[in-house]
Amino acid sequence: MSDQVLERAAQPALDIDPARLLRRIAELARIGADTTTGGITREGFGAADRTARAYLMDEARAAGLTTAVDAAGNVVIRRAAAEAGERPALMMGSHLDTVVNGGRLDGAYGVLAALEVLQTFAASGLEPHCDPVAVAFANEEGALFPQPFWGSMAIAGRLAGLPREPRDHHGRPLREALRRAGGDLDALGTACWPHGSVAAYLELHVEQGPVLERSGSRIGVVSAITGRTVLTLEVRGAAGHSGTSPMAGRRDALAAAARIVLAAEHLAAERRLCRVATVGHIDTRPNTPNTIAGTVRMTVDLRDTDLWRLAGAEEVLRRLLRTIENSTGTEIEVVAETRSDPVSTSRGLRTAIEDSADALDLPHEVLPSGAGHDAQMIADLAPIGMIFVPSLGGISHVPQEDTSDEDLVAGARVLLRTALHVADTDPADAGYRA
Ligand code: GLV
Ligand code: MN
Ligand code: MN
Repeated sequence: MSDQVLERAAQPALDIDPARLLRRIAELARIGADTTTGGITREGFGAADRTARAYLMDEARAAGLTTAVDAAGNVVIRRAAAEAGERPALMMGSHLDTVVNGGRLDGAYGVLAALEVLQTFAASGLEPHCDPVAVAFANEEGALFPQPFWGSMAIAGRLAGLPREPRDHHGRPLREALRRAGGDLDALGTACWPHGSVAAYLELHVEQGPVLERSGSRIGVVSAITGRTVLTLEVRGAAGHSGTSPMAGRRDALAAAARIVLAAEHLAAERRLCRVATVGHIDTRPNTPNTIAGTVRMTVDLRDTDLWRLAGAEEVLRRLLRTIENSTGTEIEVVAETRSDPVSTSRGLRTAIEDSADALDLPHEVLPSGAGHDAQMIADLAPIGMIFVPSLGGISHVPQEDTSDEDLVAGARVLLRTALHVADTDPADAGYRA
């Protein structure tokens, strides 16, 4: 890092504004909040998600920044519209959508910290080598539309991996929901960023696991992100009267689904073909006590840091589906599938994050991520770096997900310092790819 930038980073003008960051985190947490459970539900492209996006854009514009929504529904924030494309971008961000009944920090923290760092840059008057850009990627979780990483896949140019007419878990088309969010399914190609347009990507996130809390580290430097395959299945049987249909000859879709749940668990827990396997979503129809289930929609989420193990586990699962079909008289169709490969972060960016944490006197450690992140998709386009802060109790995707204010502020400071380092480095000699 040059003396000029280090000197300016030490000045209060180039610190983030902790109160502003914490205020925005608290305000965003009210959008989609359920006062009974204490959880937050902002399914991607749902009404609460749209409100959250509007909130982010209002905050950015009030700070004098410019906002745009691309065809995939990603919110892109810059210091000035005229900067677009002039220099390679230093992209920072995460997602605003949540799982059903999730917590206040997963994704939202990274987006608001990116906004905070961008605002700090804008106020600094620095003329960096890179154009700092904050992005809120659309539909990272895939809670309603089963295409997780939708927005980051589009930016990374992975259009071939996206369905032409995506539908939500209830069969409703994405087209209209995307239009309401400011996107355009027919113009998806315009959301892709060309190669060379992003110098580096940085994502700040809560760890969502117990490692940092247990070791007492304040900062996590992510080494690699797990690979993940999600299959959405439709199991079709025959609905019928629960009292009058003999057991022999039934085609019970829910009984078949139960076998799938156990097969997925067995695959990871007993056969160890992949690290973890989860059926987290199941929707049975007609879902009434005295009728045999006619149709079930469900997801199977497989994860591993080794691409070949992940592919092998999927192959075995698909064979088991055929066996379950035959033994239950049902039809099992894979109606949606998404894959995110395991990726490593850039060695150069890891060093920059470690140096930033050292400069701020924050104990840190290197660890892999068991959760998926938009960074995985952006890795197609640019070197990536990820910063974690500790999760209280190591829990996430539940209402109790939390991190201390001190750690939230510390993480944003590490993001700022790392961003200053990247922005001050000529991308031509950066060597972040390694
Ligand atoms: C993303 O939230 C994931 O499921 O890992
Ligand atoms: Mn999540
Ligand atoms: Mn997340």
